[in-house]
Amino acid sequence: MSQNLDYSETFYRQHARRYAEVSHNFIQSVYIETSHPALRGDEDLMDRLQELIPAGSRGLDAGCGAGARDVFHYWRQGYDILGVDAVEENILEARRLHPEIAQRVSVADLRRPLDYPDGSFDFILCNAVIQHIAPDIALGITLPEFTRLLKPSGILQLMFKTGEGVATVYDRDYAADRTFQLYDPEEILDLLVGRGFRIVPAEGDKLGGVMNFKDPKPMDHCVFFARKSA
Ligand SMILES: C[S@@+](CC[C@H](N)C(=O)[O-])C[C@H]1O[C@@H](n2cnc3c(N)ncnc32)[C@H](O)[C@@H]1O
Repeated sequence: MSQNLDYSETFYRQHARRYAEVSHNFIQSVYIETSHPALRGDEDLMDRLQELIPAGSRGLDAGCGAGARDVFHYWRQGYDILGVDAVEENILEARRLHPEIAQRVSVADLRRPLDYPDGSFDFILCNAVIQHIAPDIALGITLPEFTRLLKPSGILQLMFKTGEGVATVYDRDYAADRTFQLYDPEEILDLLVGRGFRIVPAEGDKLGGVMNFKDPKPMDHCVFFARKSA
């Protein structure tokens, strides 16, 4: 990974098993101060994505994390989902915990073009990953790759930490300082809208629109579902 963000690689190499435990127990997956009343945690996003995308659809979890919790979840729900992550230990942890999806997870770096043809996926999840990628790369390579890889009308679920610059916080679940790249939602939305995406709006009490929340660290986040043009 890039030299200026190599703290994330070191962190995940050292904490892969613990990360999988925290993730699978949804320990950091409870949100506070959410902008949408139906958004209380990761599981609400999973439920909503399943309403937007029919089972059987092909998906990619970009930066699936140690243990690939969400790849396993969507696979069990009948989705044809793959997961990639830059850190080999994270993928090994996914294969250890979930041998059923061992062939569905692999090492890949989102700072480079991915080895899939255009229009390979009906949906892409990218949750809390660009926080580890420098903005010029995230905006210049990673997000454009997602637009290339999605089929027409495909859905991108994107979650990122918001603010300006880089922030370091103490994470008590790992007894470690962690450093994150923050993003301005407007900049990301401008890029996606400029490439033909539309934010999936809130419908009644269903999740949608540009949603904000804090995680337990606490850090500010933005999350939305964006649909590629038909
Ligand atoms: C906070 S974790 C999020 C994991 C998962 N998406 C989730 O929501 O639980 C961030 C993940 O992004 C991965 N990551 C960071 N930079 C990456 C890159 N350039 N390419 C692929 N994965 C990357 C890390 O290895 C880590 O597993």
